[in-house]
Amino acid sequence: MYIDSHCHLSKEYYESLDEIINKAKENNVNTLIISGCDKNGIIEGLDIINKYENIYMTIGFHPSEANITTDEDLLWLEKLIEENNKIIAVGEIGLDYYWVKDNKELQKDLFKKQLDIAARLNLPVIIHSREATQETYDMLKEYDLKGIIHCYSGSLEMAKEYIKIGYKIGIGGVVTFKNTNLVDVVKEIDIKDITLETDSPYLAPTPYRGKQNSPEYIPLIAEKIAEIKEITKEEVGKITTNNIKELFNIKI
Ligand code: NI
Repeated sequence: MYIDSHCHLSKEYYESLDEIINKAKENNVNTLIISGCDKNGIIEGLDIINKYENIYMTIGFHPSEANITTDEDLLWLEKLIEENNKIIAVGEIGLDYYWVKDNKELQKDLFKKQLDIAARLNLPVIIHSREATQETYDMLKEYDLKGIIHCYSGSLEMAKEYIKIGYKIGIGGVVTFKNTNLVDVVKEIDIKDITLETDSPYLAPTPYRGKQNSPEYIPLIAEKIAEIKEITKEEVGKITTNNIKELFNIKI
């Protein structure tokens, strides 16, 4: 069985959640972890985790929210996490200098405040980092946290550095694309340091590249990792599921 450790199941993208969840189950993807990374996404996600037993959530303000997130919003976030045991991590949080470059200090400030929340609540973090590898790493190094570098696309050297400070490497559909350096990353790191994710609705794996992604495609990512690691996809499923269970301390 498999866990999709990071997806966005908003109504904006999917007409019928029941259908998405059933299709995932048919493909042995039994547990989903959704990511709420802005106010609306968080509110919508709360309804979803209340309704579906096999769905958990991580919440945190994405760096693209840096200009509008207030300290009050952060208090709201922290309270929600404290009150709901199906919210299992803070994230996705981090730095994104690809989309917005002119508010680096604001992004760092928001990131730091949410790392503080995770430290206070003793929870893992889900990290979004784009064109900001060194800065992200430098900030994480200041904390003694665990978590996932979501949708990893960096170098092998950097992956090793993140692993050294307690992070797992989130591998998604990109590993199935042609000419990706992720093949080398997956080959060289221990499978105990890998988690699977779709980041649905984005980044669908081959042969659905460019189309809408869905948690049911997790086995395609597992298959590619199995091929690289020369093990079975069932083993990939078993080990990565355990990685998630350990990291988030969930019993499934
Ligand atoms: Ni995401």
